[in-house]
Amino acid sequence: MNKTDMKILAIESSCDETAAAVVRNGREILSNVINSQISLHTKYGGVVPELASRKHIENIDPVIREALSQAGETFDSIDAVAVTYGPGLVGALLVGVSAAKAIAFAKNKPLIGVNHIEGHVCANLLEHPDLEPPFLCLIVSGGHTNLAVMEDYGVFRILGQTRDDAAGEAFDKVARAIGLGYPGGPKIEKAAEGGDPYAIHFPRGKVDEAPYDFTFSGMKSAVLNYLNHEAMAGNDVCAADVAAGFQEAVTDVLVERALLAARDLGENRIVLAGGVAANGYLRSRLQSACDADNIRLYSPSKILCTDNAAMIGAAAYYHLIRGERSDLTLNAVPGLKLG
Ligand code: KG4
Ligand code: ZN
Repeated sequence: MNKTDMKILAIESSCDETAAAVVRNGREILSNVINSQISLHTKYGGVVPELASRKHIENIDPVIREALSQAGETFDSIDAVAVTYGPGLVGALLVGVSAAKAIAFAKNKPLIGVNHIEGHVCANLLEHPDLEPPFLCLIVSGGHTNLAVMEDYGVFRILGQTRDDAAGEAFDKVARAIGLGYPGGPKIEKAAEGGDPYAIHFPRGKVDEAPYDFTFSGMKSAVLNYLNHEAMAGNDVCAADVAAGFQEAVTDVLVERALLAARDLGENRIVLAGGVAANGYLRSRLQSACDADNIRLYSPSKILCTDNAAMIGAAAYYHLIRGERSDLTLNAVPGLKLG
C-alpha cells in the first residue's frame, strides 16, 4: 500500500470493554469509544464470561457506528479493519472478530488481527510521537506481566514473565480478600491512600536464576495468611494498611526488575503498558527510579491504559504497511502469546 493517509477502524472486545476506534497512520486518534461493562459485573465480584459475551453482542454495532460517526468516517472511507483476536475470553473475543470479519468481507477491506498485549504497548505510540522501537517495556496487565524488548513494530523478545499470577490478577484477588470487590486494582489504589505501606511487610518474590521473571502468588498467599491469622486471633484488620503494604510490595518488585533490565541491557528508555499501568503509585515510583538513573519513562495516559480499541489501531497500522493481513478464517485465540 502506498497511500499516505491510512485510517483504520479498530475493534476490541477481549474482556469487559466493548470498544471501537478510528486511528490515522497508527499515531492519531480520530475517535475512541469505550463501553465498559463494569457495572454489570460488579455484583458478581468479577467478570462473568457468558454475560460479557452477551453484552458485547448488544453493544458492538452501536459502538462501531459511534466510533465511525465521531471520526467523520464510514465503512467505505476507512482503509482497513483491525481487531483483537487474543488473548482474552473466547466468547468475548469472538464477538469482535466476527464483526471485523463481516465488515472486511462486506466492504472488501484488509483485515488485521492484533495481539491485545501488543496493543497495550502500542497505546504509547498514540501519545509519544517520538517513540520508535527498539525499546524495553514493562507490561503489567490483568493476565500478563512481562519484561520485553519490542525490537520492531510487533516483534517482541521476552526477557521475563510471571511464573504464576499476573500483577493485575494479584491486585484483583487481594481486593476480593479484603472485601473491596471488583475491579480490584483501582480499589486497592484508593484504599492504599489512607494506609501505611510499612505497617505490614509482604514478601517480594524472586525466581532463582531468572532475574527478570516475576512471582506474585507468594505475596498474595502472604496477604491471605495474614487475614486468616488476624481473624483467628480476633483482631480487626486495617484494610487500608493491607492495601498499602501489598501495593508497596508489587511496586517494589516491578520497579526493581524493570530498572535491572534497563541497566543490564544499557537501555535508556522504559515503556510502561497494561491496565496496572494506570496505578498512580506505580507510575510515580517508576518515574522517580527512572529519573535517578537517567532513563526516560513512557507511559500512556490512564484512559489508554485500560482496554480500548485505539491501541489496537495503533498496533495494526504497522502490520498494514508491511502488507501483513489476516484472512477470513481468523479465529479467536484465547491463549495467544506475545513474541
Ligand atoms: O491490562 P488489562 O486490560 O488486563 C489484560 O489485558 O489482561 O487490565 C486489567 C487489570 C485488572 O487486573 C485491574 O485490576 C488492573 O488492570 N488495574 C489496576 C488499576 N487499574 C486497573 N491495577 C492497579 N491499580 C490500578 N489503578
Ligand atoms: Zn487489556
